[in-house]
Amino acid sequence: MIKFLIKPITIIFVLIYFSSAQAGDAEKGKKIFNKCKACHGVDEGGKNKLGPNLWNIVGAPIAAVEGYKYSKALIAYAGEAGNWNEENLDAWLKKPKNLVRKTKMIFPGLKKDEARENLIAYLKANGNN
Ligand code: HEC
Repeated sequence: MIKFLIKPITIIFVLIYFSSAQAGDAEKGKKIFNKCKACHGVDEGGKNKLGPNLWNIVGAPIAAVEGYKYSKALIAYAGEAGNWNEENLDAWLKKPKNLVRKTKMIFPGLKKDEARENLIAYLKANGNN
């Protein structure tokens, strides 16, 4: 009996492993967020710094954090794109100026796909969307 169960159980574990690996690792993302900390906080109710607070940013409307003065370029992009999602955030974090040419976020971008995935998982974990 046990013999017959081992196979499906193994398959389930392998599936869980791969789906969680693909979703990105928030713990690793926390370290990557060190690159953002000079300009961004991520705590609920946290203050804006040079850049806006990023609590709950995944799924949130673009350029809409209260009390922050955005560039015209990002506001225009918000009119086109609406909300941040994993796709446009990935493009933004890869090279902000490729997505929004005249943004005032001076950050070269993260080249590694895995780094961006983990960072987005971390941003998701710091929010309730
Ligand atoms: C040198 C400062 C600086 C660094 C470093 C920086 N940012 Fe930014 N960020 C900004 C500024 C300034 C803006 C506002 C851009 C605008 O208005 O054009 C911004 C905007 C954003 C937005 C859009 C927020 C919204 O309300 O729509 C996100 C998301 C973001 N940054 C994520 C990050 C992440 C994640 C990192 C780290 C990988 C990072 N930033 C690194 C300065 C920075």
